[in-house]
Amino acid sequence: MMFSYLVLMGIVCLCSTEPLRRHKRSWIIDSFDIVEEHLGPFPYDLGQIKLDRSYLVEFMLKGKGVDEDPKGVLSIDPKTGVIKVHRKVDYEQYSVLMLTFQARNKSNLAVDTQLGMEVNILDINDNPPVFQRKVYDVTIEEATKQGGFIVGVLAIDKDAAGTPNSTIDYKITSVTPTTKNVEFYMQKSGAISFKGCFDYEVANKYTITVEAKDRGVVKLSSTASIIVNLQDGNNHLPVITGQTGSAKVLEGTNGTSPLIIQAADADTRLTAAWRVRYSIQGDKGGHFSIYTDPDTNDGILTVVKPLDFEEKAEQKLTIFVENEESYFSCEVKERSADGLWTIITNPAKPSSRDITITVEDANDPPFFLDPVRKVILEENGVVGAFVDKVTAVDPDTGRRHKLEYSIDQEPAGWFRVDKTTGEIFVKESLDRESSHVTNGTYTVTVLVTEKDDHPPMTSTATIQIYIEDKNDNVPLLKENMISLCQSDEVSHAEITAFDLDGDPYSGPFSFEIVGDHKKEWSFDPSHGTTVHLVKDKSVHTSLYTLIVKISDKQGRFVLQNLSVALCDCVVSPNCLTQRNTQQKVGSGMKGITILAVLMILGPDYSTEENICKSLKGCNSCQLWDSTDS
Ligand SMILES: *[C@@H]1O[C@H](CO)[C@@H](O)[C@H](O)[C@H]1NC(C)=O
Ligand SMILES: *[C@@H]1O[C@H](CO)[C@@H](O)[C@H](O)[C@H]1NC(C)=O
Ligand SMILES: *[C@@H]1O[C@H](CO)[C@@H](O)[C@H](O)[C@H]1NC(C)=O
Ligand SMILES: *[C@@H]1O[C@H](CO)[C@@H](O)[C@H](O)[C@H]1NC(C)=O
Ligand SMILES: *[C@@H]1O[C@H](CO)[C@@H](O)[C@H](O)[C@H]1NC(C)=O
Repeated sequence: MMFSYLVLMGIVCLCSTEPLRRHKRSWIIDSFDIVEEHLGPFPYDLGQIKLDRSYLVEFMLKGKGVDEDPKGVLSIDPKTGVIKVHRKVDYEQYSVLMLTFQARNKSNLAVDTQLGMEVNILDINDNPPVFQRKVYDVTIEEATKQGGFIVGVLAIDKDAAGTPNSTIDYKITSVTPTTKNVEFYMQKSGAISFKGCFDYEVANKYTITVEAKDRGVVKLSSTASIIVNLQDGNNHLPVITGQTGSAKVLEGTNGTSPLIIQAADADTRLTAAWRVRYSIQGDKGGHFSIYTDPDTNDGILTVVKPLDFEEKAEQKLTIFVENEESYFSCEVKERSADGLWTIITNPAKPSSRDITITVEDANDPPFFLDPVRKVILEENGVVGAFVDKVTAVDPDTGRRHKLEYSIDQEPAGWFRVDKTTGEIFVKESLDRESSHVTNGTYTVTVLVTEKDDHPPMTSTATIQIYIEDKNDNVPLLKENMISLCQSDEVSHAEITAFDLDGDPYSGPFSFEIVGDHKKEWSFDPSHGTTVHLVKDKSVHTSLYTLIVKISDKQGRFVLQNLSVALCDCVVSPNCLTQRNTQQKVGSGMKGITILAVLMILGPDYSTEENICKSLKGCNSCQLWDSTDS
């Protein structure tokens, strides 16, 4: 270490200007410079290394520029230590050459001294700045505001960084076409912007040439092209130019188009700046809609909700038109020397048109002022009595039609309607107990027809007639013929009565036997709907006709005959049955004695069982037809 330091001190002494610096573990001499691209003549002397030794030494160089690329640039004279340069070096390829210097003992070739050596290559301005691209192609919107960024360019100079030889200045050298409304400018960074207003219709494309130049003594430069394409914006408002169509709508129709609006737009066809949207003002009922024909930009006004002539015979509307894309306006007012220019922007004023749609009258159906009516009528009222009056109107204000009324539906045929006045009268007496009456209510529908109209327009009204009940029915026996077994004891049978009238003209009823048999026969109880007929034990087997009085709550009654067949059920006497039982069996069974048959069959009856069942309490019977007696 100590030794090595001394040697170096020797070198310093020999080459007085050469600085020394410590680099990692070895000492480095960087005392030599080569100017790049030096034209020679070669070889020339770069310098000499001397070593103060009492014995003979041999000098050697290894590394870049000798046995590593760039080979053959440098050599050292082994005896004198003179370093020679043999050819030129490019700074942009090798900015410094790192070498190893050795001095060896000439006698035994042992390494005496070893040092690192750097040869600096000095830059000259031999590289122009070069743009990253030859051509920049950008597309921007016409509506771009002045001062906005358009594109940024970058050039690179390979000469020594941080020196004037690699410091770049940009500038715009030309713009085609030149237009009054736009001025492009370039910032130090290479960003390009503009002042003024683009107008696609003035120029839709600009070509800008930019230059990048270094600051070398002899300045080097290069250029690039920037193509700025404009995208047409919406700087023209659409204008309504005309209309076609009748402007007439038939009332009640839907989907018809009474009018087509035409509009013109100066922007590029089929772009959002050209396409239009229409809107309607004044359409209070929401009767209209307007849609745009995408090919022609026409506005097709369409009825989407039918109009009513009687409500409004004329509809005033205002149609507005605007573009799909929002409008922009830009106008240069003043070109200031520095800074951005003064610009005026105008707000959009949409084009509009006032239109009047005429509603045409159509024939509307007549209608009833009061289509559902309720009336109360007495049962069995006077025929010809006035019931109600229905009134229909023809809504057409133009030509009014004659109206005619008629009965539409009425199942029992109890009413009639005056065809001109609409007055309804009773034609036949009403019966609340009729099957056409539900819960006391009867429904009549009346039709009104517009005469002289094809097809005739009609409408209906419903009249619900509530029929008040009258006590027009008496209680009647459900069955007026029964049979009973003769016995010594008191016996009885069930008797039921009914009354078609409703409460309070109906049951419960009062039952009474009148006439000859009222001593032997009675009812228990005598009040109700179903009671028992009770026979006295003294009564003999026979057919009896009892006169029965059944009264309703109001005391209304009628005398009725009740036939009672009293049979001797033990000895098989004749049981008598009336026409209704006989009908069940069939006319062929008239007067047949079936006693013998029944005895053979025993208790297992066949069809005769039915007969016996009807003759309550009898084991055997003989059919008897009252018409034969
Ligand atoms: C140089 O080599 C010779 C021969 O081997 C030797 O005698 C001498 O001492 C060496 N010198 C040094 C400084 O090592
Ligand atoms: C720049 O280049 C010139 C030769 O063109 C050269 O003389 C000069 O030294 C260089 N400057 C630097 C700082 O490298
Ligand atoms: C009328 O037509 C439009 C569409 O064309 C429909 O949306 C609307 O429901 C129609 N209205 C009537 C009352 O039919
Ligand atoms: C008749 O009236 C009764 C009681 O008011 C009710 O329960 C019944 O549903 C009605 N019948 C019809 C057919 O309206
Ligand atoms: C009841 O019977 C008697 C005698 O058989 C007869 O004259 C009368 O008309 C009958 N009455 C009824 C309502 O059938």
